[in-house]
Amino acid sequence: MSNKATIEVNGQKHEFPLVTGTENEVAIDIKTLRGVTGGVTTIDPGYKNTGSCESGITFLDGEKGILRYRGYSIEELAEKADFLEVAYLLIFGELPNQDELDKFHSDIKAQSIVDEDVKKILDAFPKSAHPMGVLASLTSALTAFNPTSVNVDSEDEMYNAIVRILGKFPVLVAWTLRKKKGLPLDYGDKSLGYVENILKMMFKQPNEDYDLSPILVNALDKLLILHADHEQNCSTSTVRIVGSSHAGLFASISAGISALWGPLHGGANQAVLEMLEAIKEDGGDTKKYMSKAKDKDDPFRLMGFGHRVYKNFDPRAKIIKSAADEVLSDLGIEDPILDIAKSLEQEALNDDYFVKRKLYPNVDFYSGIIYRGMGIPTEMFTVMFALGRLPGWISQWKEMRLRKEPIGRPRQIYTGENLRPFVDIKNR
Ligand code: CMC
Repeated sequence: MSNKATIEVNGQKHEFPLVTGTENEVAIDIKTLRGVTGGVTTIDPGYKNTGSCESGITFLDGEKGILRYRGYSIEELAEKADFLEVAYLLIFGELPNQDELDKFHSDIKAQSIVDEDVKKILDAFPKSAHPMGVLASLTSALTAFNPTSVNVDSEDEMYNAIVRILGKFPVLVAWTLRKKKGLPLDYGDKSLGYVENILKMMFKQPNEDYDLSPILVNALDKLLILHADHEQNCSTSTVRIVGSSHAGLFASISAGISALWGPLHGGANQAVLEMLEAIKEDGGDTKKYMSKAKDKDDPFRLMGFGHRVYKNFDPRAKIIKSAADEVLSDLGIEDPILDIAKSLEQEALNDDYFVKRKLYPNVDFYSGIIYRGMGIPTEMFTVMFALGRLPGWISQWKEMRLRKEPIGRPRQIYTGENLRPFVDIKNR
């Protein structure tokens, strides 16, 4: 194969190099396009054909249903690793040995105190506030209580910023839930593992001990691993683009949380559960909702179906579907919602509309069912996604800063009015 692409503009041919990744993905490097063509640009709304960066963190092949973090398959990581190991792997590039993991964990624990004044900010939110809005605000507020900028050329400063946010973020997540439930705010228990501590911070009642359930710990570990990174999705691209202006890590992550909130992205897990509930309330007629999803005059979409990149199957959905079965049966829960989900899935997999458009269940189709089984309120589902995605956002932000990427600033094609004279207000 030639290693060049030719683009002809106004009868003039221009050659551009091809860039080939380690998994043989090919891109046309158009960095010089505007220069050589006298200002011609490309247009690609939604970036369906545009690579925003080169990255060594996550590989996914949407046709083959492959997802790997730093070269390790998601199936193997979900089965054999724990979330903190995966976080280390994503952020630093290699799996940690026991000493490295212990040090990482103890450095995170040392940073797990959130300034008491943050509680006053939390207090100002009504209980009805959506937890994602609260989490984004508190994460941004952390900037005021910590060093505002990180010298990314200093390995120590970079490391400290990373363990600081990994330490404080779960506290904010737990406080967000406790505020909603009207429970006193708590700090973690340093004797526990990272994920165990999260569960205890979230669920401990003030008047009794908290018994950790290994089923819940395993389920949460797995869910967080499955969500830990997904290359240049909407929230990660947001983190990278905000960080590219050299805004700080907390501010960049806060922007990522806001991007994740939307129902087409991370907010889908909440939307799926609400949809399944609505179908149940409406008598469980899944066929009616299938028809609505296919009707172009109806805005209804089958939430938890379809993916920008996966056009065959979402490997995370496969793992999560069997985890949902396992967790619910281990917890002794029979949830009619799970039956509705399974019927919808079967109908969609055999329906021409969905098959033609390559719409398959995505990771969020089943995650909400597990969270619900774990006793996590529906409005917190996307917060749990954010907790899992945190190491991915950190690693992508770190990579972007260390590679000294330029500020993200796309071009546009202007389609508005041409120059016209100003009209005085009395003549309009
Ligand atoms: N239900 C019904 N029709 C759908 C759906 C759906 N869930 N998803 C896509 N379509 C149709 C869409 O109407 C379009 O049809 P047509 O070609 O006739 O116009 C076609 O499929 C292609 O859809 P698209 O919106 O152009 O595809 P996209 O790549 O821009 O969007 C998506 C991907 C995930 C936003 C979309 O599939 C969707 O809205 N899904 C539901 C929300 C959801 O579950 N999001 C979670 C994604 S996984 C978690 C994460 O990583 O964030």
